[in-house]
Amino acid sequence: MQISIQIFFLLTLFIAMSHPVNGQHEINYSEEDVPAFQLPQLLQLENGKTVSSEEDWIRTRRPEILKMYKEHVYGHNPEVQIEITAQLIEEGISKAFTNTRRKQVRLKFENQGRKSEALLLIFLPLQSKSVPIFVGYNFYGNHTTCDDNEIILTSAWIPNKPEFGIRENKATEESRGVRSHRWSVQKIIDSGFGLATMYYGDIDPDRNHFDDGIHPLFYKKGQEKPGDNEWASIGAWAWGLSTALDYLETDEALDHDRVIVMGHSRLGKTSLWAGALDERFAIVISNNSGCGGSALFRRKYGETIRAINSNFPHWFNSNFKKFNDREDLLPIDQHMLIALQAPRPVYITSASEDLWADPRGEYLSCYHASDVYHLFGRKGIENSVFPEVNTPIQNDIGYHRRKGKHDVTDYDWQQFIAFAKIHLD
Ligand code: GCU
Repeated sequence: MQISIQIFFLLTLFIAMSHPVNGQHEINYSEEDVPAFQLPQLLQLENGKTVSSEEDWIRTRRPEILKMYKEHVYGHNPEVQIEITAQLIEEGISKAFTNTRRKQVRLKFENQGRKSEALLLIFLPLQSKSVPIFVGYNFYGNHTTCDDNEIILTSAWIPNKPEFGIRENKATEESRGVRSHRWSVQKIIDSGFGLATMYYGDIDPDRNHFDDGIHPLFYKKGQEKPGDNEWASIGAWAWGLSTALDYLETDEALDHDRVIVMGHSRLGKTSLWAGALDERFAIVISNNSGCGGSALFRRKYGETIRAINSNFPHWFNSNFKKFNDREDLLPIDQHMLIALQAPRPVYITSASEDLWADPRGEYLSCYHASDVYHLFGRKGIENSVFPEVNTPIQNDIGYHRRKGKHDVTDYDWQQFIAFAKIHLD
């Protein structure tokens, strides 16, 4: 008896060690082990009828899909109205760039004595009227996005990153410009665009707490965390982007019909959700967003629902945890999230070495979303064959797979600018 227990224990240990695990489960990186699956029908209404016109999509199918996403994945945003004020607190010519104006705006949020705030940093071409603008979150504070000494440091909680000089969860002078390679500011300005960025932790610190950031301002009496079908962090971050857009719409220098939302990775998941909720965003760009972003859940390649819910339990609503290892029961898949952007242009990227994000799954989402673009007479991704690296497709659904790692590079920005020029001019 004793021996057989030992053998059983050793066998279990051997199996566990011979499989790469994350969130206690196996992660697949082999195309051969991608299961056969059937995607939920994009163009079939809940009553079984087929969507055959723009009107059917806009009036019926789109709201059906949006509701499923709110209920099962990202959560419903609360209906409560809070007080939001914006104050331009700094303005000047940026010495870090040529031909560039800088503005910094403090957004203040308040409800029933609870307060929170965020800093929006804006760069604009010097001589400009009706400027189209990219808006996107940064990961470590506005001051990390470039070497401009005038950028105000956030007072929000930041994850420690000693190699960036971030300790004790605080922004430091040492971290100025540490992420500048991700923001091609000069190129954006020289191409006639503006750039607005905000630290996502100003809206909701990226940790498994619901007593900080914006959430508590929306709680009902006695509430301590969002309900099972309510928003979590991605929902809050998406709300923050719409709030930034509310401010941008008051700035006369900008073209309010040409605001492009861009996000990378967890913030690329966020840009897609923000674009789905808020159709004022004229173009939606999602860079290397992977699981819970542009990649198909049902492929179970790289990061899975179980892995993401184990590592980041606060990103999606509680209902989403019901789908750990049960991808096939989800009433949506991510081609639907891309379709929710239609008919607006949407641009998805992958990086060739970013297997965790499932590049092929990101591409196939675009391909399967295309039927909705066709309803509007637009061109999506028309070929299911995975494109070569560094060969951008710039249809109404755009896509490229950049050679290299999980990141945002100058190459990516070059394509975003080209895409925006094609589709907004
Ligand atoms: C982790 C996470 C991804 C996410 C990424 C990021 O790798 O598993 O889902 O996209 O972080 O945001 O950088």
